[in-house]
Amino acid sequence: MTGPVLAVDQGTSGTKALVVCPERGVLGSGYAEVRPRHRPGGLVEADPGELYDSVLAAGRRALAEAGTDVVALGLANQGETVLAWDPATGRPLTDALVWQDRRAEPLCAELDEHAPELRQLTGLPLDPYFAAPKMAWIRRHLTREGVVTTSDAWLVHRLTGAFVTDAATAGRTQLLDLDHVRWSPRALDLYGLAGERLPEITDVAQPIGTTRAFGPEIPLTGLIVDQQAALLAQRLTAPGAAKCTYGTGAFLLAHTGERPRRGGSGLASCVAWRLAGTTSYCLDGQVYTAASAVRWLADLGVIGSAADLDPVGGAVPDSGGVTFVPALAGLAAPWWRGELRGSLTGLGLDTTAGHLVRALCEGVAAQVAELADAAAADLGTPLTTLRVDGGLTRSALLMQTQADLLQRPVEVSALPDATALGAAALARLGTDPALGADEALPPWQPAAVYEPRIPADRAAEHRARFRAAVAALPGS
Ligand code: G3P
Repeated sequence: MTGPVLAVDQGTSGTKALVVCPERGVLGSGYAEVRPRHRPGGLVEADPGELYDSVLAAGRRALAEAGTDVVALGLANQGETVLAWDPATGRPLTDALVWQDRRAEPLCAELDEHAPELRQLTGLPLDPYFAAPKMAWIRRHLTREGVVTTSDAWLVHRLTGAFVTDAATAGRTQLLDLDHVRWSPRALDLYGLAGERLPEITDVAQPIGTTRAFGPEIPLTGLIVDQQAALLAQRLTAPGAAKCTYGTGAFLLAHTGERPRRGGSGLASCVAWRLAGTTSYCLDGQVYTAASAVRWLADLGVIGSAADLDPVGGAVPDSGGVTFVPALAGLAAPWWRGELRGSLTGLGLDTTAGHLVRALCEGVAAQVAELADAAAADLGTPLTTLRVDGGLTRSALLMQTQADLLQRPVEVSALPDATALGAAALARLGTDPALGADEALPPWQPAAVYEPRIPADRAAEHRARFRAAVAALPGS
């Protein structure tokens, strides 16, 4: 079946929706903001109702702008955000605990002796970022009622009545047996979640049900976690290439083929997607705060918004000796030290907003460079390409800094909404199984390519300075 599809990317800070036509491209778009609450102690919560309403609002706006019917819906979700809800009524029983929430740290500490076993089973390190620790925390401290799932399962249930999650999102829980792509009784047992009613695991493209939430009846045929949707949309469907999406956090994913690869570099090993029963895998590394670190600088009044990064940072030639480790929600791969907090060092009376902006860009770029090196080490081959997408790729300063510290070209996607476009491709594949992924995906085109402009020894110096600053964080 051909025709336009509606793709919805339900993210941490907002929901983006696109109406995508196979022949004419994007016909309409809509956006609705979401405001997670940040509370002391590393707590990050979202109102489930706000998440659902944002899906409806963004989707309806995109449909109204497109002024056309759609043949299918694809939904991308934020991955490790969880809530308890009543499957009889669909009513949320708790707030959504967002992926950045750190409250399950003590619970992870209790499981520490089982970390190697959990990593072998599920591909994931033990960290509250993933869904299972927060699901177990909800069961211990908030409610034993209803079901406890990732946010996608709840959204899909509200939309269609089905009780499902896709294989890629299931891979973000630390409850999935990575080799067999089924719930792991052992992991469930370790988390005290044995006996839980869990959603059925689906392919990322298949008919799930239908919804009238946007007006006319639309079949839901694509379902995936957001970073993997972007990997697909960037056409990174073979080993050796990686993408990084600069959103609320920055997420680097490298395709590893049809077998999971558990390397020694500290990256998560997880499902990229399962299409027509065949599973592809990827390595995944995270910078917990990218756009949220930019927003933090803006909240402090150093800049007005992300649009100021280039003019403010461009007013000075370098960071003036300032080093910023923007670990404002801890450090993920390859360090896995979520309890650490960021640092700003080298400040002087002559430090300006421009120096702080440059130091922030260097901090994010240095972390991404560490992830790229870790992926290359685990793959046993240097990365051929880094394709990038997400809002912060609009900053030429950040992208140039990234190419400099990586010492490799950075190719910026011409598609600003790669995640939604990945979900759109899956929605199409789910309605037309005869279609290949190649045909369903938009052509890949760089809007810009940033080449490294500093010599390798200067890049190495910068990165060594950043590593030393990480090693010096209080608690390290
Ligand atoms: O793992 C969380 C990540 O996928 C969230 O992405 O776009 O909401 O920052 P985003």
